[in-house]
Amino acid sequence: VEHGEGGHMWREMQDQSAAAERVLRGRLDERFGTAHLGGLNMDARETRAIRRVKILGCGSAYYVGQMGASLIEELARIPADAEAASEFRYRDPVIEPDTLYVAVSQSGETIDTLLAVQEVRRKGGRVVGLVNVVGSAIAREVDGGIYLHAGPEVAVASTKALTTMFLAFSLLALQLGRVRDLSISDGKRIVAALQALPDQVEEVMSLSDSLVEVAEQLAAADSLFFVGRVRGFPVAREGAQKFKEITYRHAEAYQTSELKHGPLALISAAVPTVAIVPQDELTDRNVGALHEIAARGGPLVVVTHPGVDLGDVPCRRFDVPRSERELDPILLTLPLQLLAYHAASHLGLDVDKPRNLAKSVTVE
Ligand code: BG6
Repeated sequence: VEHGEGGHMWREMQDQSAAAERVLRGRLDERFGTAHLGGLNMDARETRAIRRVKILGCGSAYYVGQMGASLIEELARIPADAEAASEFRYRDPVIEPDTLYVAVSQSGETIDTLLAVQEVRRKGGRVVGLVNVVGSAIAREVDGGIYLHAGPEVAVASTKALTTMFLAFSLLALQLGRVRDLSISDGKRIVAALQALPDQVEEVMSLSDSLVEVAEQLAAADSLFFVGRVRGFPVAREGAQKFKEITYRHAEAYQTSELKHGPLALISAAVPTVAIVPQDELTDRNVGALHEIAARGGPLVVVTHPGVDLGDVPCRRFDVPRSERELDPILLTLPLQLLAYHAASHLGLDVDKPRNLAKSVTVE
């Protein structure tokens, strides 16, 4: 085994392409450029009546919920946001009848998410679940849902479940969009991109060996930043979460746009930054921020797309294949899993069972 590869997290990362195929199987409609999600239990009339989407989850499920909110806003043009279920359930939330609540959970047993679902339902709201474990508490409690078919996930750090959550959000956003104003040609564009994703996932996983050396350098830092903006910000949050939970290094996610309003004061040769710089409407601004970091001696690792011109900024660069821009976040996330994995393995840590953490928190 090279580079200490093995264990649950490793195998679950390697299963992501197959898991992506499983969550999409039988759910894409090429002819009408839409998705079929029978388990949602919502007809077209009910779907059209949705005015807002509120996504609830904890940890990685919350961060992928932020990615899902962007997908829903972009494809369905419905205002959407994600909130940590652990906060939502304690703040006496206003439950609106024309809001669709979406609970996201690998285990389907996370107590904060389950109690958030119960709070919504007690007040008459409609909740659908994005859940992996069939027949779990959340799966039984919701009005309808999408099973993730990720297969068993054992490592505490979520990898393949998160990838299937992202794809389930893509299907949901596509279906919501197509009963509203998303055109058939845009629908077909997304369907084709989704069909291509499993192979692209495999392609990104093949970067693994090339990330080992950089991961080892990052492991030597006590503190690091993960930055991105708009679609890239939840990617940075998820990347920082993975890194901190399995390497025990302080990893903080920040919006690239906010660096100059505070964290730039901390940048130095001892504080590396991992930057998400997709080819999109903000590429030039992101590259500008890289220069600001480099000017202060901050080491840079950039996850980007082929052809993006980073100028003369000193950095280690990793290119992931492009998808359609709405779907880019998932491919940008995968190298961050690999970085965390290789850094933690290098440090000799128990990657699958990090200290102080449980796979699912089922009691208060
Ligand atoms: C945390 C786990 O306790 O629960 C995270 O450490 C996970 O990895 C989170 O993302 C949510 O779990 P679930 O099962 O609700 O998706």
